[in-house]
Amino acid sequence: MSIPAKQKTLFLPAVQGVMTVQVNDVPKPGPDDLLIKIEAAALNPVDWKIIEIGLFLDKYPAVLGLDGAGTVVAVGTNVTDFKIGDRVYLPDSVSFDEGATISICAATAGIGLYKKDDSGDSAGLTAPWEDGGRTAYAGKPAVVLGGSASVGQYALQFLRLSGFSPIITTVSPRNTEFVKAVGATHILDRSLPAETLQAEITKLAGGPVEVVYDAISTKENQDLAYDVVSPHGSLVLVLHEVIDAAKKTGDKKPTVVFARGGLAYPQNMHFSVGFVKELSKLLEAGSFKPNVFEVLPGGLNAVAGGLERLEAGTVSARKLVIRPQETA
Ligand SMILES: NC(=O)c1ccc[n+]([C@@H]2O[C@H](COP(=O)([O-])OP(=O)(O)OC[C@H]3O[C@@H](n4cnc5c(N)ncnc54)[C@H](OP(=O)(O)O)[C@@H]3O)[C@@H](O)[C@H]2O)c1
Repeated sequence: MSIPAKQKTLFLPAVQGVMTVQVNDVPKPGPDDLLIKIEAAALNPVDWKIIEIGLFLDKYPAVLGLDGAGTVVAVGTNVTDFKIGDRVYLPDSVSFDEGATISICAATAGIGLYKKDDSGDSAGLTAPWEDGGRTAYAGKPAVVLGGSASVGQYALQFLRLSGFSPIITTVSPRNTEFVKAVGATHILDRSLPAETLQAEITKLAGGPVEVVYDAISTKENQDLAYDVVSPHGSLVLVLHEVIDAAKKTGDKKPTVVFARGGLAYPQNMHFSVGFVKELSKLLEAGSFKPNVFEVLPGGLNAVAGGLERLEAGTVSARKLVIRPQETA
């Protein structure tokens, strides 16, 4: 296909600035790069945090966005694994809109649970695609705090594939049936007091829990997660650890990790290469499902409104997706 010389781009001019659509040059891929025509992109809570705090950015104007799906239109001279026309990184059975929901959130779940190295950001469990991985944890309880969240849905699915049982999660009651279909076996109302949630989780699990994935990681959730994890269990967080220091006494010494879902982060690269291949196989087999999504009309012009909804906490059990090619 012919590559246009220009494209519409959503620029952030400065920290806390107003994003605007401008026309700029289509970049040329470097020797190790792919040029991808993005058909769908998903919004993440971190996008509004980046705009407000300037997180991760040292140069402006900046182009944001962590999740995209599309087709390879040019490859760098060193690239051998991809060719023009490849869908990145999707089997044919997955639409671009669905694909956009997958990358960083599924990676945050997968890396937090299954990466094995010394970077200290994973529980290091045996993955479902490894030998014995589908049965290694049969009959062991696991907890996902926030199972209806984008990351939470993927954590539930991985834990189900790993054979954990029961799998207990916390959501708003309206999402009870939704998270059951995703993989949870027991659902608790997330608005219950922390002591009640702790007692209910411990009762359902039959004691302290070996693997707890806190897909929300507010201070309140982290403290609850710490209270229910077993003394030598694993607790995976998605934000920096802020657990009450007074809790960390005695013989209780769980492994507490902060998972970072950037597939291309240097500490994740080795894991990521195999992970995306295994995830594609699971998606193709239908044993792993993309997030439910809502397409926002208006292309790039819809991003600001979508991020406002994420910041206001009014998005429930769905990923917000835009189609940049629809930008007027
Ligand atoms: N470390 C990383 O690399 C990484 C990657 C991705 C995301 N994150 C972070 O992970 C967090 C979640 O991201 P996301 O994209 O998964 O969010 P999201 O899907 O936009 O979150 C919305 C969901 O959160 C649930 N929720 C909110 N507060 C809750 C609580 N106290 N307990 C249980 N559920 C709660 C809501 O559940 P109900 O509607 O059922 O109430 C809703 O379904 C964000 O802080 C994000 O920045 C980190």
